[in-house]
Amino acid sequence: MTSRGPFPATRMRRVRQSDWSRRLVAEHRLGSGDLIWPWFVFDGPGVQPVPSMPGVERLGIDQIAGAARRARELSIPAVAVFPAIDPKLKTDDAAEAINPDNLVCRTVAAIKAEVGEAVGVICDVALDPYSSHGQDGLVRDGRIVNDETVDVLCQQAIVQARAGCDVIAPSDMMDGRIGAIRQALDQSGFSQVQIMSYAAKYASAFYGPFRDAVGSSGNLGSGDKKTYQQAPSQSDEAIHEVALDLGEGADSVMVKPGMPYLDIVRRVKETFAVPTFAYQVSGEYAMIAAAAQNGWLDRNAVMLESLLAFKRAGADGVLTYFAAEAAELLES
Ligand code: PBG
Repeated sequence: MTSRGPFPATRMRRVRQSDWSRRLVAEHRLGSGDLIWPWFVFDGPGVQPVPSMPGVERLGIDQIAGAARRARELSIPAVAVFPAIDPKLKTDDAAEAINPDNLVCRTVAAIKAEVGEAVGVICDVALDPYSSHGQDGLVRDGRIVNDETVDVLCQQAIVQARAGCDVIAPSDMMDGRIGAIRQALDQSGFSQVQIMSYAAKYASAFYGPFRDAVGSSGNLGSGDKKTYQQAPSQSDEAIHEVALDLGEGADSVMVKPGMPYLDIVRRVKETFAVPTFAYQVSGEYAMIAAAAQNGWLDRNAVMLESLLAFKRAGADGVLTYFAAEAAELLES
């Protein structure tokens, strides 16, 4: 006979039974202050849809002021700028990356002119949007050369800082670039400019739609980035990468991609206790958007659940193509 007494003493459902109680016990919350909004920009008027990312558009330079005001109104702390460079400007040496009047620099200036300090601006440092071969570094005899690339990345960081960029975000995965960029920024009078390092960046198949959006997939062709981005098999190696980048002066670190790498987010946050961000990349966005378009998933519900999962894993914020949509549904 089973006891009919006060059994069970612990009823997990007790605190779940009403909305007020569920809200009260919530361990993690998502707010618009957790979001970084990535923009694809192009040198022309209007907007261009990105077919492999339904709901995402490239913004023409005339759209920047309006988008910056929208970020401010939604209390999104920062935007990240990614350029789709005119193919005619792409060269083997990616020289357009260090042109002080390039698309990124003009975009940064337009954002700052409109919203000033109200919205932070993050710029990617890597050569792939500008190179004819689609690699993040310089190529010599079929190899991506590290130290020569780092010299160019330092110059790229400086032109971006001069344009008004608040946060330099190297996503190139060359060795030693954080220390070199920190020194270059300091020597040029930009000691206040932050560095957000893509420290744990994997050679991932989830970047496909991004390469369509910035127009680098055709340049890269059948090439890959496995000699500088990490293999998906690696976990300790991510910790080693983060340790090096922090030692070289990174202010915050990024794990990328996001959802398939939440274990890395958790390890990084627990090991280093520094500002830790995750990048919900283009392929993750595309999966959710495509399933929602087919009526197979609830777009808003899956979007918010996926973003909250990053917070639970330990991320302080998330770079996501859903940023504006999510912020509309959230409190700041
Ligand atoms: C390139 C860069 C990539 C992404 C951001 N910066 C692609 C790559 O490494 O090939 C991908 C982001 C995404 O998929 O959303 N330096």
